[in-house]
Formats: sequence, C-alpha cells, structure tokens
Amino acid sequence: MSKRKPLIAGNWKMNLDKLTGKKLVEDLANANIDYKKVDVLVAPSSILIQPALCSLSKIKNSIIVAAQNISHEEKGAFTGETSAAMVAASGAKYTLIGHSERRQLYVDTDQLINLKVKKALEHNLSVILCVGETLWDREASAAVETVLAQVGKGLKDIKSLTKIVLAYEPVWAIGTGVTASPKDAQNMHKAIREYVAKIRGKAVADKLRILYGGSVTPINAKELLSQKDIDGALVGGASLKSEDFLKIINFDKK
Ligand code: PGA
Repeated sequence: MSKRKPLIAGNWKMNLDKLTGKKLVEDLANANIDYKKVDVLVAPSSILIQPALCSLSKIKNSIIVAAQNISHEEKGAFTGETSAAMVAASGAKYTLIGHSERRQLYVDTDQLINLKVKKALEHNLSVILCVGETLWDREASAAVETVLAQVGKGLKDIKSLTKIVLAYEPVWAIGTGVTASPKDAQNMHKAIREYVAKIRGKAVADKLRILYGGSVTPINAKELLSQKDIDGALVGGASLKSEDFLKIINFDKK
C-alpha cells in the first residue's frame, strides 16, 4: 500500500441529470466513509456542479467536486466553453484535464492540455491530469514512451506539483471492461514516478498521487489499488451507481 492518501474519483462524463446526480451524491454523503483514509471526488458535467454542491452542503461529508474540463482561455468569444474562473466560482475545487475522450474526440493536444493545466492553477483549481496510451501505442511497444511524453508535455513549465494529481488511463481500457493487469498498471505507474523523480526530484515524485483508470470495478479495485505506486482510481461507469462506487471507495475495508 502506498504512503500517499488514496483518491477515488468518479468521472460522470455526460451522464446523470439534476435528480439522479442529487441522489447519487446524497447516497455517497450519507455513507460511512473514513475521510482520514481516503479522499473522494465526483466530476459531474459543469452544469451539475452547483446542484451537486447544494445537495452535499446539507449533509456532513468531505466529498470534493470537480469539473471534467475547462477552457485554456481566460474569457471571451468561445461559444460552448467554460472558463476556469467560472468553474472555481461554482465551488468546484478540481478539474480533470486531458481525459482521453478530450484528446481523441476534441483534439486536446499536449500543448493545449498544458495551457489548461496552467489556467486551472491560476484560478486555484487542483488538476487531475490524465494520460494514457492507445492500443496501437501498446502494440508498437511505445506505451511507456507515449505516456511519459504526455506527462512531460502536460507538466511543462509548471513550477509546483502540489495541486496536481496524475491519472494513468490506458485508452484501450476505458469503458471496455478490459483492465490493465495490476502488474502492468504498477509498471507504468512506477515508470511515471521515476520519470517525475528525474525531472522534478524524488521528494516531489514521492508525494505525487498517480491514479489508475480504465474499467475499474468493485471486483478489480482492491488488487489494483494495492499496488505500490497506484494511489487511487479514476472511475467512469462504476461511479454512476452509489453501491458500486462505495465499494471502490471502501476497497481497503475488510
Ligand atoms: P471507465 O472510465 O471506468 O468507464 O472505463 C474511466 C474514465 O474514463 O475515466
């Protein structure tokens, strides 16, 4: 088990609505979670951030609310975008950046992702920076190289990593029901941590949380999360049902 406090993050993607989102956060907030042992985060679509926070404010809990994406621009004529300032003002404390769906469907390049990370930090938002190789990269034996390049480019010129969490999500494992084996996931996490140690020093790398994502379920969570360099999970499908998500949150309970 790692010495870093695990973070279990739920990425709702473009799912749920005001009512079902409210029910889900209420179920989580009412559950018995030991927040001394685990951090819990939900990332609803931006329009559901405030309703989620409003529901959470009525129950004692320490659930963190995040956005799924922000614009790299400060403000202006960018139809359909949401700024970091707007996300921060809505009460969210984190944002995901560089999720593979953004990289693949909306052409979020490494350069754009780096600008988004900087913009988030400017507005005091913590960041879950997502990286991960495609099946093509893996079959070409380029998985590690691809992922480390994404980490290096995503973190370029970012002075402090105290508000950064990384999430390793192999693209071929997202939403497919196929997970990286705990051993393969651990190997990649170790490679990422060693790379961060090389570019930022061992002390920074030792503190950095690196989450695993890609078809995490209540069944495979414990083994994945018991790996030395895996410090939590970024969960898609299984975060939409409170029962499943709570089992993942409580992975450490006997
Ligand atoms: P999944 O999604 O758990 O449904 O595979 C993970 C993610 O996209 O963050």
